Amino acid sequence: MDIKVKTYFSRNSAGGSLIDLHTHLLPDWDDGAESWEETDRMVEIAASDGIGAVCLTPHIFRFSRHQDSQETLEERFGQFYERYKDENRVMFFRGAEVFIHPDLVREVGDRTLSINQSEYVFVEFPSDQIPAGTRDLFYRMMLAGYTPIISHPERNDLLGRQPEILFDLVSRGCLAQLTAGSLTGGFGSEVKKRAEIFLKHHLVHLMASDAHDSKNRRPVLSHGVEAAARIVGQETAEALARDVPEAILNNRLVPELGRPVCPSRGRKLFGLFGG
Ligand SMILES: [Fe+2]
Repeated sequence: MDIKVKTYFSRNSAGGSLIDLHTHLLPDWDDGAESWEETDRMVEIAASDGIGAVCLTPHIFRFSRHQDSQETLEERFGQFYERYKDENRVMFFRGAEVFIHPDLVREVGDRTLSINQSEYVFVEFPSDQIPAGTRDLFYRMMLAGYTPIISHPERNDLLGRQPEILFDLVSRGCLAQLTAGSLTGGFGSEVKKRAEIFLKHHLVHLMASDAHDSKNRRPVLSHGVEAAARIVGQETAEALARDVPEAILNNRLVPELGRPVCPSRGRKLFGLFGG
């Protein structure tokens, strides 16, 4: 079952609030919420933080407790809809976070894995590398009409060491999502430093919580927006967690917040990613 696929979503309908596009609130599916009670707590936290819209992005091809069964996934979304259909503080949308996969283009189309049935798709990399062929895969996605959004590039060690790879992908039309907790130090000082560098160089386009629970990785964006505001100013910081996600949910072109700049200007691409 589709949960609330909205074609028309305006700031008015979400009360001008923040939009959290990447969360693991769907329970008993991946390493996110473990129970409906935990999901209830996460919804409360999101609402208290001024988040008016949440996209559910369960892991696909990674961490699934149910062998990625589409039947179970549909059942879970259906249960979610039933449980929260009268929730009027937070609107919910359907999406996914798809681990990079050779058949990604076909799988996204067959299994409704884009965000709110838009052209935008969250793609996750392993934490320590970028698989060979990523650039070609993204090109094939774009030919099929999809725009990849790289999940939390600041948490990838290779992109940290070689930001020119992220610059290359972003310059070719990919988007990238910063995790709010990365900017506030929740993943350590190295990840925080990368997050700040990517933000300063316009290599990330939106901010989300990537919430997994109600204790450590919570659905909170306000602190991340405050931290971003100190680097890029209040207006851009709010756009990362509101205007850009809103455009994505509506399947519109995202507003440009700044032209990407390569943090390691002049360095050439080598190795796996060369060519
Ligand atoms: Fe995630």
